[in-house]
Amino acid sequence: MTDAKKTVTFTDNQTGKTWEYPVLSGSVGPDVVDIRKFYADTGMFTYDPGYTSTGSCSSAITYIDGDAGVLLHRGYHISDLATKCKFPEVAYLLLRGELPNETELKDFEKTLTYHTMVHEQLHKFYDGFRRDAHPMAIMCGAVGALSAFYHDSLDIHDPTQRMIAQHRLVAKMPTIAAWAFKYSQGQPFMYPRNNLTYAENFLHMMFSTPCEDYVVSPVLARAMDRILILHADHEQNASTSTVRLAGSSGANPFACIAAGIASLWGPAHGGANEAVLKMLNEIGTPDRVDEFVNKAKDKNDPFRLMGFGHRVYKNYDPRAKIMAETCKEVLAELGIENDPLLEIALRLEKYALEDDYFIEKKLYPNVDFYSGIIFKAMGIPVSMFTCLFALARTVGWISQWKEMIEDPDQKIGRPRQLFTGSDHRDFVPMDKR
Ligand code: CMC
Repeated sequence: MTDAKKTVTFTDNQTGKTWEYPVLSGSVGPDVVDIRKFYADTGMFTYDPGYTSTGSCSSAITYIDGDAGVLLHRGYHISDLATKCKFPEVAYLLLRGELPNETELKDFEKTLTYHTMVHEQLHKFYDGFRRDAHPMAIMCGAVGALSAFYHDSLDIHDPTQRMIAQHRLVAKMPTIAAWAFKYSQGQPFMYPRNNLTYAENFLHMMFSTPCEDYVVSPVLARAMDRILILHADHEQNASTSTVRLAGSSGANPFACIAAGIASLWGPAHGGANEAVLKMLNEIGTPDRVDEFVNKAKDKNDPFRLMGFGHRVYKNYDPRAKIMAETCKEVLAELGIENDPLLEIALRLEKYALEDDYFIEKKLYPNVDFYSGIIFKAMGIPVSMFTCLFALARTVGWISQWKEMIEDPDQKIGRPRQLFTGSDHRDFVPMDKR
């Protein structure tokens, strides 16, 4: 942050009092007004539900320019990372700040590989869930439970323990997610294999059985790797802010990531890829697309087209562009040409891109619109879609958590409120209510 040369003045129209606040500039992006002393000076809070104008922290990890459709991780463009790197390289970049050289990458991949197994006792933990439990519910529980198993990486003040927790979380998440799936299918858990890449290993644990190995297609493994990269981090979104807020109290990293998973689950956030598939199924046939588009446009109908729109991207989602290409590759590899849901999806995409309502409101297909179609083609059940998002986002969450813990300005997160309830009521005894 640069020293403030610019300031902003607030004036109270009633008293005529004024207060001046410094304007801070980041390396790129909008300036921010530093209002840390605002309450102490004025006795007022600022009001910003949904934090649409509030910077909650300073960060050097991810930069988004929503109007220009730009997404950068540590300065690198997402399209370069998604097309030229593999997921562990991007994970290293997010965690450590630099792209790894060959030796660093080899060491990092080895570290991840040797942390993929989970404590054997965790098997029994899965048994406590109903077989029809949503895998996101299992993931919330299992990830939170890691703090009960790995006592040697809970001390957030010890940099080595912090690093071990980061490695454990990134490495174990595919195992935890794949086991949530296996549990729902009533199939035995598959152990990770050290000769497979991160993405291959996940597909192996999902689809192999003790009776038969799943032969991982290089096209599908690459697509999975790319999906992981495209979801790896996304600045201060709801789940990341949840991780930071949970961590700001000093909670251990496993508990914080469990909180992030819970936040991600909602259909306005990570749950959207699942909601897209449900919506496509509900539409059912291409000739009903118009009807659903009209529903989305109807002010009196709360229905929204899932997979369209974004809080930040108001032009296009740069991840969606790469995802759309990956979608084509996967469908070609699997020989899927006449899938009815795909036909509905393509018709919807075309319609929305050409319709005045969507153009005016800048509603474009987002990353989740295409990821759901890819997952379905790969044979991943709809209930697992958000788990995949959580698996990919874990590295972003934990990088942001680490950055927060190491930030000297970090404080416990404690928003204020505009109170609208009763200010005082005389107590009414039970016999008078
Ligand atoms: N379908 C129809 N209308 C929409 C949609 C949609 N998907 N999204 C926004 N609008 C309309 C909305 O009704 C509002 O209209 P008006 O101005 O007349 O009231 C206007 O567009 C602005 O909407 P908003 O809710 O103020 O916008 P937001 O920036 O707060 O919401 C969003 C962003 C992602 C929550 C929203 O676009 C949405 O609900 N999309 C569907 C869910 C979805 O696909 N989510 C995944 C986001 S990408 C993955 C991730 O990063 O988590």
